[in-house]
Amino acid sequence: MPEDFKVTPWEVTGDIDYDLLMRQFGTSPIDEALLERLSGYGPLHPMLRRGIFYTHRDMAWLLNEYDKGNSFTLYTGRGPSGNTHLGHLMPWIFNKWVQDTFGCDMLFQMTDDEKFLFKDLSLEETGRMAYENALDFVALGFDPKKTKIIVDTKNVRRMYPIALEVAKRTTFSTAKAVFGFDNSTNIGSIFYTTMQSVPAFLPSADAGRQVPVLIPCGIDQDPHFRVTRDAAPHLGYPKPSLIFCKMFPGLNGGDKMSSSDENATIYTTDTPKAVKKKVGRAFTGGRVSVEEQRQLGGNPEVCAVFKYNFYLFEKDDAKLNELADKCRKGEILCGECKMCLTERINVFLEGHQDRREKAKDVVGDMTYDGFEW
Ligand code: TRP
Repeated sequence: MPEDFKVTPWEVTGDIDYDLLMRQFGTSPIDEALLERLSGYGPLHPMLRRGIFYTHRDMAWLLNEYDKGNSFTLYTGRGPSGNTHLGHLMPWIFNKWVQDTFGCDMLFQMTDDEKFLFKDLSLEETGRMAYENALDFVALGFDPKKTKIIVDTKNVRRMYPIALEVAKRTTFSTAKAVFGFDNSTNIGSIFYTTMQSVPAFLPSADAGRQVPVLIPCGIDQDPHFRVTRDAAPHLGYPKPSLIFCKMFPGLNGGDKMSSSDENATIYTTDTPKAVKKKVGRAFTGGRVSVEEQRQLGGNPEVCAVFKYNFYLFEKDDAKLNELADKCRKGEILCGECKMCLTERINVFLEGHQDRREKAKDVVGDMTYDGFEW
């Protein structure tokens, strides 16, 4: 059966069938038993309850180690190619919940090298964006004593020997099969996955013992970590565990918020006016006229405004269901929903922009190996 979607670390297009994707990638579902077990450590995050984080690798092993007193380090990252938008924040917010719930150390990798190699950007530009994006990460409130930020070109001296170990055990034919590289691919891109593998092994390398690692991230990153996990036993380190989320939707009704459509993307630095305009133009599940909508009701399943409440802005399940119900019955119109979402996003951004300013004072102390920005 031909698929009409594509999910790779560099490209996400089409109508994503997440269950099919899970089977193709060979990851495991987050089932009731795992949710039940996770709820034993603290109240479940809405992203788990709602199936936004929906699939994983080796979570049971990770929790077994944790229960034995072998706590894990968290690892996630960002390719600094532009301003941070809500889609980037979503998995970071989940990471923060994991850090709070399990009290773990955390590594945040900024892959300025990756974006230099894969995009039309200079190293100077990706380096500057690394700093800007790090402010958004820090603004979410990660514990400054337990959290370190890696920038690949700054920390390369520590990373390179581990990257080499991975590179030696990864063939070109694997890279081609996993990523679809061909003869026109620049050779830096072929090497890059080894750099993204390094933070999965750094905690063990630094501690001199086997430290479990959990990587919460978008499902599009799995191809990288399949390579990482295959290399792990050869390096004598445990395979990192992973927990994956779905892509954060665009305001245009698409499956992934993307900087290529600026009007369908909410950046952390947007003004209240810009947010109002963008939400005002959002794709909804509404009908062509008020009369029809009152009579037939709207369709929250396809509505970007509803999805924003589902993914981030309505944490109360009962209220979320009530909203969907009202929409289906035609009791609430799109204009009202858009106004309400605009208000919520602007309240969030006002606080975030404040914390982002304050982050400038601490971001210097959170660098791995103490590099200077
Ligand atoms: N490749 C990711 C991106 O393009 C950045 C990244 C590096 C990352 N390490 C990671 C993402 C670990 C998630 C988890 O944004």
